[in-house]
Amino acid sequence: MRAQADAGANIAFIKYWGVRDEALNLPLNDSISMTLDAARTTTAVEFSPRLADDVLTINDKPASEAALRRVSRHLDLVRERAGVTWRARVRSRNTFPMGAGVASSAAAFAALTAAAAAALRLELDGAELSRLARRGSGSAARSVYGGYVWWHAGTDDTSSFAELLAPPEHWDVRDVVAVVATAEKAVSSAEGHRLAHTSPFLRARLAQTQRLLPCVREAVLRRELALLGPCIEADALAMHFVMMSSRPPLFYWAPETLALIKAVHLWREAGLAVYFTIDAGPNVHLICEAADVEQVIARVQALEYVREIIVAGPGPGIVLQEPA
Ligand code: DP6
Repeated sequence: MRAQADAGANIAFIKYWGVRDEALNLPLNDSISMTLDAARTTTAVEFSPRLADDVLTINDKPASEAALRRVSRHLDLVRERAGVTWRARVRSRNTFPMGAGVASSAAAFAALTAAAAAALRLELDGAELSRLARRGSGSAARSVYGGYVWWHAGTDDTSSFAELLAPPEHWDVRDVVAVVATAEKAVSSAEGHRLAHTSPFLRARLAQTQRLLPCVREAVLRRELALLGPCIEADALAMHFVMMSSRPPLFYWAPETLALIKAVHLWREAGLAVYFTIDAGPNVHLICEAADVEQVIARVQALEYVREIIVAGPGPGIVLQEPA
């Protein structure tokens, strides 16, 4: 009973920040993202009646207790659905450097969900896989699909799932990740989602997402970066204002983060079509079209405080593979 699946991380254009229901990972707002081709996780799952416990390796090394617990809890949902109690051996590998500041939980839980479901011969459609992946990590709900994806917040387990807006080949956008720090973040996004409620600016941001979501959708469908860019910058800033005004406050930025934001504004004034977005960390994602990516990379490379650059384009969703 084994299967293997590959899935990509995603960069959100409209972010998920704040939960309505922690147990079910039901978000407070809809979100839109692009699944990435260059930051992926491949996971093999083998269920066996002979195993006493779940076993997890990440990049060929035994995983931490905390990671194993989170994966076991997620496998329990899949086991329950299939009506089995067998434990599993899980081998997960990332194609991107761990600790490079690229969030890996979306790719990890999308790949795990698909591999575990396939190993247990569960026949799930995209929406069902998305609901199940969401339980492991909210943003994993979106990584089930490739290209451009809309996650409907919903109000319960059934209504909260992602759907495809446009496939990867629809629009050749690039995400140039300027890595400025590689340390583990001090506050997990799970904790941050809980704290969002304590910010007086949460309501303002949620109202703004209602206005931005249809713009981002239109921008993606019409392939208009000049429409997309201002929306994604406005939402990333609003999310960080919520973080910074939570109690206790969360500061994910480093001084280099603000320096990069200012650099992007200067580059744009000079005629380069590039926009930024920032997740729950200090690294800055520079969003541009493929035609401009070399220019963007050259400008980022010239900044002495950028430690590493990762370049990704739109990639496929879950890909089932032959187990090695
Ligand atoms: C800032 O999906 O990582 O990247 O459900 O706790 O795994 P968990 O949270 P997660 O939160 C993502 C936060 C974000 C914005 C986004 O990707 O939408």
